[in-house]
Amino acid sequence: MIQIKIPWAQPDIGEEELNEVVDSFRSGWLTMGPKVKTFEKGLSSFLNVPYALAVSNGTVALDLILKSMGIGPGDEVIVPAMTFFASTSTVSYQSAVPVFVDIDPQTFNLDPNCIAEAITKKTRAILFIDYGGNPADYDNLLKVSKRHGVPLIQDGAQSLGAVYKGRPVGAQAQVASMSFHMAKVMTTVEGGMIFCRKKSLWHDMLKRRNHGEPAGKKYTHAVLGTNARMSDIHAGIGLAQFNKLPLLIEKRKQVAKLYDHIFSSKKSKIQVSTTPYENSSNAYFFYPILIDQRDKISQRLLHEYGIDTRIAYPMPLWKQPVYRSSRLSFHKMKCPVAEYVTSKVLNLPIFPSMTTEMINYVGQAVLNEVERC
Ligand SMILES: Cc1ncc(COP(=O)(O)O)c(C=O)c1O
Repeated sequence: MIQIKIPWAQPDIGEEELNEVVDSFRSGWLTMGPKVKTFEKGLSSFLNVPYALAVSNGTVALDLILKSMGIGPGDEVIVPAMTFFASTSTVSYQSAVPVFVDIDPQTFNLDPNCIAEAITKKTRAILFIDYGGNPADYDNLLKVSKRHGVPLIQDGAQSLGAVYKGRPVGAQAQVASMSFHMAKVMTTVEGGMIFCRKKSLWHDMLKRRNHGEPAGKKYTHAVLGTNARMSDIHAGIGLAQFNKLPLLIEKRKQVAKLYDHIFSSKKSKIQVSTTPYENSSNAYFFYPILIDQRDKISQRLLHEYGIDTRIAYPMPLWKQPVYRSSRLSFHKMKCPVAEYVTSKVLNLPIFPSMTTEMINYVGQAVLNEVERC
């Protein structure tokens, strides 16, 4: 059996979260109660976005957004060629067509310069992420969106706490989603949230979150919805986590800073990502490096050092078995950068309670193995 000495991720859960859970049970409000509302309010004011909607996870958040925007069969949605599967599976679930577009070699985010040639009369949205917490190129994404009249959907599952040109990430696009899954920068165990600026869109999603019921009209179903509700227990955990968000982000930044320092001596063999915009910062959900012999090194880190890593993501999306083998439609543009990055990327352990000793241990193990290969 493999002895994991350093996990890839570890949530920072303590007394505050436990107290919130107990408090929810004591209050008698178990689902969609006051804590859900307070959680929504807290995050919408943090991002300075008028409407927020807490949901059961980040995948459902994307699904509701796409449905409420009326995206359906045959519509095209631009998606980065390298992202977590939910960014494209939710598009395919609408019977819409994801169009895979290349990423930027420095940030690994959707490259705005590659979008124009992917736009057709059928393009209904540009969906993008902030890879590993590194902010996307918002100024240029907004320019392309405006020029072509195609709305942006931010899949912000990875980037709560990141900053783009002085403003928190999540406030830039017309609509954004977030995930609070266990490994994320801030967690509700499972959970997600949607942020938007348009009341009518929010209203539609509000109904869809609860089986399409309009407020106050129990058992009346105005639109086709689902159960996407967040419980008060989960929201309570989120409130406790939200209180410590600045601390959680600061600790992640410290881990990344030390990794940067350790790898600075091997720039020719270990490429790290950067944040090239002024007054901006990464939330460091991931700490990605690009290396040769990635698969071999990740195996050695695990078996010889007990270091768990992630390959996020191992292939451009059109190579996923489900797209290769099934009837799901997609289009792909030329994506040489996504091909390159997916063959080299390795995500090292990063979490708030990582000690200097642990970071040095991982850093030195990577240096050793890069030299050895
Ligand atoms: C980019 C991206 N989008 C969507 C999701 C889905 O979020 P959830 O796991 O909360 O459904 C994730 C989760 O890792 C993600 O990384």
